[in-house]
Amino acid sequence: PSDLGTDLSAVLLTEEQLQTRLGEMAEQIDADYAGKDLLLVGVLKGAVMVMADLSRRLHHPVNMDWMAVSSYGSGTKSSGVVRILKDLDSDLSGRNVLIVEDIIDSGLTLSWLVSNLRSRGPASVEIATMLRKPEAAKVEVDVRYVGFDIPNEFVVGYGLDFAEKYRNLPFVGTLAPHVYQGA
Ligand code: PRP
Ligand code: MN
Ligand code: MG
Repeated sequence: PSDLGTDLSAVLLTEEQLQTRLGEMAEQIDADYAGKDLLLVGVLKGAVMVMADLSRRLHHPVNMDWMAVSSYGSGTKSSGVVRILKDLDSDLSGRNVLIVEDIIDSGLTLSWLVSNLRSRGPASVEIATMLRKPEAAKVEVDVRYVGFDIPNEFVVGYGLDFAEKYRNLPFVGTLAPHVYQGA
């Protein structure tokens, strides 16, 4: 079992910071999609927290759907080759799609996902992400809504895992190096 007291070296974003920012993002999304159909697409599993909290801050009526993808690659770094583990239930033709993500790291997952979803005939495809690591970008991804740009550190919590742990933390923390150095 992990010990939170020693596994994390710092709290990067508090629960209050995350929730305040989500409220601002929701306001923007409400304004931008006023009078339009909107389908939120959450990317399992990391996006579960953002999807739950962001969608509840919206006044706009939305549909919600989910995709699970897995990137092939060596070790923990994604390669850009993505496989669909669970596809959407919805037909995207004519829909306004907003992809909801927890983090954009290299950008490879989302750049693949955006072009995959665009090929299905939607009216629009945009991205909302809670976190983004500008220094880790391998491909540029055009993101409409960003919660926070963060340094290129190993972060967990609020949906983000290390070896499937820490997802349920209500804040974002920096993982202490001793936790992942042995992995
Ligand atoms: C993480 C994260 C993003 C993606 C970002 O998901 O939730 O979906 O990696 O990385 P990238 O920008 O370098 O492609 P992961 O594949 O770990 O799956 P998970 O959401 O189930 O944790
Ligand atoms: Mn993910
Ligand atoms: Mg992960």
